[in-house]
Amino acid sequence: MSIKVVMLGAGYVTAHLATGLERLKKGLIEPYGIPLAKYALPYSLRDIEIVGVYDVDESKVGKTLYDVAKEVMGSEYPVPEELKTVIIRRGIRRKSTDGLDMRAKGLDDLMSYEDSLKTLLNEWLDLRPDVIVNVITTEYGEEYPDESVALGKILRGDVPATHSYAYVASMYAKIKGGVAFVNAIPTPVANNPGLLKLLEESGVVVFGDDGATGATPLTADLIEHLTERNRLIEFIVQFNIGGNTDFYALTRQDRNHMKELTKTSMIKDITGYEVPAFIKPTGYLEPLGDKKYVAMHIEYISFNGFRDSIYINARINDSPALAGILCDLIRLGKISLDRGWKGTIYEVNAFYMKKPGPQGAPNIAKNKAYELLLSKFGLK
Ligand SMILES: NC(=O)c1ccc[n+]([C@@H]2O[C@H](COP(=O)([O-])OP(=O)(O)OC[C@H]3O[C@@H](n4cnc5c(N)ncnc54)[C@H](O)[C@@H]3O)[C@@H](O)[C@H]2O)c1
Repeated sequence: MSIKVVMLGAGYVTAHLATGLERLKKGLIEPYGIPLAKYALPYSLRDIEIVGVYDVDESKVGKTLYDVAKEVMGSEYPVPEELKTVIIRRGIRRKSTDGLDMRAKGLDDLMSYEDSLKTLLNEWLDLRPDVIVNVITTEYGEEYPDESVALGKILRGDVPATHSYAYVASMYAKIKGGVAFVNAIPTPVANNPGLLKLLEESGVVVFGDDGATGATPLTADLIEHLTERNRLIEFIVQFNIGGNTDFYALTRQDRNHMKELTKTSMIKDITGYEVPAFIKPTGYLEPLGDKKYVAMHIEYISFNGFRDSIYINARINDSPALAGILCDLIRLGKISLDRGWKGTIYEVNAFYMKKPGPQGAPNIAKNKAYELLLSKFGLK
């Protein structure tokens, strides 16, 4: 009873997910960082099997996941030998790597765009994934008001790679009878009305957008705490400086803007009023590596007009945090398919995502969302 998974993007997150899962299966680590590990789900962590990984970086395509994980995680890290059986396949590029310092080629650089979609579909029909996880480099992407605009843009190729992948997922789902698409990056899928409709009608379960890890869930819960006590938040500043390639990519303004939107949308949803806030990835400093530096300052007014301050300084390993929640999202995706659900599921997104879909759905504190999630899946 395995859950077959295709990963889009062979970067830090995929390397951590793949190595962590193998080490869990061997009993070498405890399942810390996986929120639902304490609950008995119909699928265990051992059931997750990564059957395909896609990238467009010429230094990764054709190599094994083992080789890529060794490079990403450092030669000291004990990467399991099992990862040698997965070869990195070539994905669809569109403009996802433009402006980045890498040699990249997608299927769509080697053949017509239409043929690249068909090639990918045929590969997925061979691999038979139940769940497709998108962790490619954050790219700029628009929201489409309806299905026909979405389809028109996708067929013309006038879209980010994420939307091409989502479209292939929809064609695959129609043939196979459903698939789950987990969009862990900010490029809008669950918050994209036109694309979401197209996916829903094809039987795709969609989780998204942008996995909530690191400082964002902590900020959400702190804001809820202050709001429940009726303290007036005057402003919030949050800095993030990291040294991984994701932070490097986010030094590009359009990509950073995508992140900024997903991070600041939550504050008003929780407080009910506008709060001046500066929350975005602010810089790249290579020696920090994957362990980012987070600084947060919240100023608020308490009883009798007194002003208090919260300061937080943290160093947070970025990619393992997302890899841990993906262990749940993959299993919840398969469970949702088994239950005959399609489209997006707010109770999942509200807990695991920075910008929970569907568009317009409220961003609530993560500890409240946790309760909704448990109820939805009959875990309490
Ligand atoms: N905690 C976290 O690390 C976290 C949290 C939320 C969201 N994310 C998002 O997850 C994504 C992955 O993070 P990461 O740290 O693994 O980044 P990374 O840069 O290490 O990996 C991204 C990979 O995607 C590849 N890629 C780019 N365009 C592609 C395409 N069109 N098709 C296939 N592959 C493509 C790149 O070559 C790279 O190997 C980022 O978009 C990031 O914003 C990360």
